[in-house]
Order: sequence, then C-alpha cells, then structure tokens
Amino acid sequence: MAQPRILILGAPGAGKGTQSANIVEEFDVEHVTTGDALRSNKEMDISDMDTEYDTPGEYMDKGELVPDEVVNAIVDEALSQADGFVLDGYPRNLEQAEELEGMTDLDVVLYLDVSEEELVHRLTGRRLDPETGEIYHVEYNPPEDPEVEDRLEQREDDTEETVRERLRVYRENTEPVIDYYDDRGELELIDGERAPNEVWDDVKATIEDAA
Ligand code: AP5
Repeated sequence: MAQPRILILGAPGAGKGTQSANIVEEFDVEHVTTGDALRSNKEMDISDMDTEYDTPGEYMDKGELVPDEVVNAIVDEALSQADGFVLDGYPRNLEQAEELEGMTDLDVVLYLDVSEEELVHRLTGRRLDPETGEIYHVEYNPPEDPEVEDRLEQREDDTEETVRERLRVYRENTEPVIDYYDDRGELELIDGERAPNEVWDDVKATIEDAA
C-alpha cells in the first residue's frame, strides 16, 4: 500500500484523536479532523448559507452538527491535498458518507467500540495542552510535569450536559453510518474499551493487514 487512506469512526470520546496521533506517527499520513478544523473556524460567518445559526461555534457549543455544506467543503479541500490520511470526525451522517464516496477511496475503515458510560467518563475528564495539542485525562492519563498540568484546558463542549447531547446526536445521525460501512463488509471492529496501548496494537495490526 502506498500511503494508506484510513477512516476512523467511533462515538465522541471513543479515542479517535488519541489513536489518530499514533497512526500519523507510525504511517506518516495527514490527520484530517473536522473537529479541529471547525474549532479553528468557530467564528466563521456562514450566515449566507441559509443556516440556523451564523457561526460553526454556535452549533458546536450546543453539541449539534455543523451543516453539511460547511463540513463537506473542509473535507474535500483537505483530502485533495493529502497523499495518505486518517480521517477523523467525518462522515457523521449518511449524506456525508455519500459525499465522501465521491471524494476518495478508502483502504481501511476502523470503528472504535466503547460503552456509553465510559464515553461520558472519558469526555468529562479529558484535558488538552494548548501548547502541544497533547490529549490527557485527569484519571487515566494525567501529565507527569506539574507545569503542563497547570496549563491544561477543558474543551467547551466537554461538560456533562453537552456530552449527553453529543451522544444523543451521535446515536441518531452517526450510528447509521456505522451500519452503512458494516453492511458493505468494510467495517473493522476494534474493542476501544481497553487501555490505549492495547487498542493501538489492534489498530496498527488492522491497518497493516489491509496493506
Ligand atoms: P469532534 O472534535 O470531532 O469531537 P467528537 O467526535 O465528539 O470526538 P472527540 O474529539 O470528543 O473524541 P475522540 O474520539 O477523539 O476521543 P479522544 O481521543 O480525545 O467534534 C466536535 C464538534 O464539531 C461536534 O459536536 C460537531 O458540532 C462538530 N463537527 C465535527 N465534525 C463534524 C461533521 N462531520 N459534521 C458536522 N459537525 C461536525 O479521547 C477522549 C478522552 O479519553 C481523552 O481524555 C483520552 O485521554 C481518553 N482516552 C482515549 N482512549 C482511551 C482509552 N483507551 N482508555 C482510557 N482513556 C482513553
């Protein structure tokens, strides 16, 4: 396989960002993540698109999906510039899955499977280092350096109320996407409930097998 084209699916908090960082390092591919792209453009004026709210940030802070028109354009542009990639956060509904079909072929579709209570625990305990972008967890993966610990930040949509809404939106919109790839026999199921290094062993082996 040249540079692999990898799709990583999973609920909010399933570990997509954590495992994508490993994939980027091991397979030398681009991390294409709609969540980060939208967070960098939270204040973008989308009022001319006839949308309910005027900026992506208003959707994100409520835990709702940003309109397809905005997200499809971001992904199309990013994929056209990448040889290999790990795509994280997209597609999040069937319309986006169909749109992706027209943009690229995929070598492997990974699905990180994690129970709902564990997802809530992971998201409400997640902390980010604004200087390095490193992902931590207050209990599972705290930083060793107290200086790093002092500067950690919590994402605005990681409060329990917004997390519950994100999970509801996921069940309604994104679970059909999991079925879509499963029905086509393309889904590689990974037990995401284990420790990060055990999940990584499985993710790495699955990508290598697809080569
Ligand atoms: P986005 O940023 O994509 O968030 P998400 O899908 O909700 O996923 P997360 O980033 O929250 O979780 P993750 O799976 O990456 O978990 P992580 O590795 O950090 O989207 C945010 C918003 O943007 C959406 O709500 C929406 O508004 C908008 N948006 C984005 N894409 C869109 C699209 N396509 N269409 C429309 N709108 C869109 O891990 C979580 C925590 O768990 C961390 O603390 C980590 O340390 C810990 N952890 C990870 N793995 C393990 C493990 N194995 N064991 C124990 N702890 C672990």
